[in-house]
Order: sequence, then structure tokens, then C-alpha cells
Amino acid sequence: MKETAWKSPSNIALIKYWGKYDVQIPANPSISFTLREAATTTRLRYAEGTGKISVFLDGQNTPSFLPKIESFLERTKDFFPFAGEMDFEIHTSNSFPHSSGIASSASGMSALALCMMSVKKDLGLPIDNFFEEASNAARLGSGSGSRSLFGPLAAWGEHAEIEGSSNEYAVAFSDVDPIFKSFQDTILLVDKGEKTVSSTVGHGLMNGHPYAATRFEQAHENQSALLTAMLEGDLETFGAIVESEALTLHGMMMTSMPYFILMKPNTLEVLNKIWAYREETGHPVYFTLDAGANVHVLYPESHKDVIMSFIESELRTFCKDGSYLCDEVGNGPTQL
Ligand code: DP6
Repeated sequence: MKETAWKSPSNIALIKYWGKYDVQIPANPSISFTLREAATTTRLRYAEGTGKISVFLDGQNTPSFLPKIESFLERTKDFFPFAGEMDFEIHTSNSFPHSSGIASSASGMSALALCMMSVKKDLGLPIDNFFEEASNAARLGSGSGSRSLFGPLAAWGEHAEIEGSSNEYAVAFSDVDPIFKSFQDTILLVDKGEKTVSSTVGHGLMNGHPYAATRFEQAHENQSALLTAMLEGDLETFGAIVESEALTLHGMMMTSMPYFILMKPNTLEVLNKIWAYREETGHPVYFTLDAGANVHVLYPESHKDVIMSFIESELRTFCKDGSYLCDEVGNGPTQL
């Protein structure tokens, strides 16, 4: 068997993708920081065959991953028409613990899409733009995965102010003050449980949601304002928009039918501590949330020491087993 391998990162959205239609078309544009440490490494072994697939997570045969991979290959058959005439052995591992509550779908699907692109290249099939096509394929596996292909930021979904933006693939975005290119993201593991709302169910909640139309419009406006703030290095406006986006995401969940509260009491404790600390010290520290209870603490590299001691002394106590992950803005995938 031949082999190809990629390491692809996760990402954290600043403007949130929440709601989709057709096959993985986002209801609004989104933009994210690409992470450096949280990543999936995937080695794909391939040979001519009959479409047999086996998948190993950390060396263990994991057939429970097969349905997701099969549906990815079905959806991407225009990109990878050769898949049915080959056998694949997929070896994958994540740099972050499975129990950490960090979604591995973005890093995992982008790593797999890149491996499939490398097979396509090896077979001598025509490719216009390797990373654009990889992003498009990754989107079909996981919407947010389309953004993992590029750093330091990536934007997915048509937006008036982002040239070349598309609903089908993400584009690299770096038109920001340098302060944002080395931003820190300390992920506080408030709750280590499995996600209580799958992303399919979650996005589905936006269908028929009474506030959906306004929310989708607001995302466009927030993205415009965020781009200006980031270009100008305006941390205060950056923080206000990013925190509002996080709470809006959770607000949408609370006001959907059925309704969900994914924050835990300790999530709120952390948010209140961050607000109080910022008020008191004036230090630029902000938060965002994913569809879960964990808190991403965002701050400039220049404030790393002071914010880390704040996290240690005041926030760590709200984390499960005192655990958190240190990450920062990264540059995207690497071929191994
Ligand atoms: C809250 O990308 O996980 O993290 O397209 O169904 O795979 P699927 O959804 P997914 O949704 C991510 C939602 C979010 C916000 C974001 O990353 O933009």
C-alpha cells in the first residue's frame, strides 16, 4: 500500500456558523482563528481495490467512525471519483484528549480531505487549486472543517467585504493587525462530557427558528464590524463582538424548540470573573464559546504572563480536574 499523511488543526469561530441549508451551505458567513496545537494527524494507506475501508484511532480499530467516513466519501465523489476502486486504511489520532470536549470533526475532516487530495494528485488527476478543493471537500464532511485549511484566520461563506469568499470553501484571511496573528486561546475544560447536542441537531434548530432571519443578517453585520476592528487593532471592539457572538450562539439554542442550555454553572462563573478582572485591570482578555460548556479565553501574546496567572489563580478552580489546554493562532495544515 502507498501512504500519505497530513496534520490539520482545529479552529475556533469568532463569528459563528449556526444554521445551514442544502448540502452544507452555511446560512451566514463565519470567520475563525486557526489553532496551532489542537490538531488531527491522519495517515491514509491506499491501494487499488474494491472500496474497503478500515479506520484506526490511536492504533485501535474503530468501526464506529465508518458511517461518517462513508458519508463523507459519498458526498465528495465528484472530487474523489476513484474512491470506490481503492481500498483505504485510515490511521488517525488527535493531539487533544478525547474527553476534552473539543470537536475533532473540523480537524479530522480537514485532515482526511487533504489526504484524499494527495491521493488524487498521486493518481495524476487534474487539480485547479489544491487547498481550495480540500476546503470544499472538508466542508462536505464538517462545515467548520472548511476553515481549518488556512491560517492565521479563515473565512467561510459569502461576505460582501471578503474578496473571493464563497459558500463552498473557506479562504485564508490575514488582513488584520499583527496582534491578532499571535493571539492566545486558553481552553478551560469546564465540562469534559460528550456533546449533548450533535451539530446536525444543532444546525437543524435554526430551521423555523423565530429569530433566524435576523440572526443571519446580524452575522453579516458583526463580521463587517469585526473585520474593521481587527484591521485597526481595536481590541475593545473585537472583544465586544466576539463575546456577543458567543452568547448569541447560546441564545439561539435557548430560544429554539426543543431548547438547550449548554453552559454549566461554572461557565457563568468564568464569564463573570473575566468581566470583573477586565473591569478592574483594564487588561484585554475576552472569551468565546463553542456549542458546549468550555470557555476559550482569548488574549494577546503580550499579556500571556499576566493572563496565565489570572487563569491559574481565579479560573482554574472552575475547570474539571483543574484542566485547561494552551493554544494559540496557527498557520494551518502540514504535510508529513
Ligand atoms: C458552534 O461544523 O460542527 O462550532 O457542518 O454539521 O459538521 P457540521 O457542523 P459543525 O458546526 C460548528 C458550529 C460551531 C460554530 C462554528 O464553528 O462556526
